Amino acid sequence: MPEIKGKFITIEGGEGVGKSVFSSALRDHLESNGRKIVMSHEPGGTPLADAIRNLFKNPPENDDILPETELFLISAARAQHIGCKIVPAMEQGKWVLCDRFADSTRVYQGAMGGIPSDQLEKVILSSLKGLKPDLTFLLDCDPDIAIKRIEVRSLGGQNDSDRYDSASRDWHYRLRKAWLEIADRFPERIHILNANQPPHDVLRDAVKVLAEFGV
Ligand code: TMP
Repeated sequence: MPEIKGKFITIEGGEGVGKSVFSSALRDHLESNGRKIVMSHEPGGTPLADAIRNLFKNPPENDDILPETELFLISAARAQHIGCKIVPAMEQGKWVLCDRFADSTRVYQGAMGGIPSDQLEKVILSSLKGLKPDLTFLLDCDPDIAIKRIEVRSLGGQNDSDRYDSASRDWHYRLRKAWLEIADRFPERIHILNANQPPHDVLRDAVKVLAEFGV
């Protein structure tokens, strides 16, 4: 792999935890400190990867998508995203902020979807080309607060037709538990932020982490 000069920061968490607002605030903060930022998201991030995202999020009716199918679709999109967008940006010294990445696959297709970890990690690894986030922010939120935010978002019409948004309360609790287990697995990389707080307080905590990280 050519010399990489930029950084790769991922932003993860369950549904309704405030990732979009946080990502924009973090971008503004980093840009005001002179960093060149590229924003991206998964699944997706390039035209081809976004076409796969659309298939993943809106599969044809009467053909339930299997966790394994999700895993391969997402991994195909990820390979394209890494090779055509993330790595080229980092080679130019830019910092890439990515809304969701491989930890989401570990949670949604692994812990929630039931794909065994050894099988899952092999597929994840084959799409990564050696890339690993320098830092991951996990937005952790009380599921009842997250559910309220999702309700407000859909009342405001800001809904990207997410099939998980209407999941049960129990599902949101299991999702949060799965996220905290992933954070336990990668403590050197994943920093948990208390996303029950207002957005400016979440950003303040992230800025402290970045300072420890030398930014
Ligand atoms: P979002 O971009 O609106 O967060 O929607 C993306 C959805 O895709 C979200 O429900 C989580 C899901 N997802 C997976 O199931 N596996 C993955 O690897 C990724 C990146 C996302």
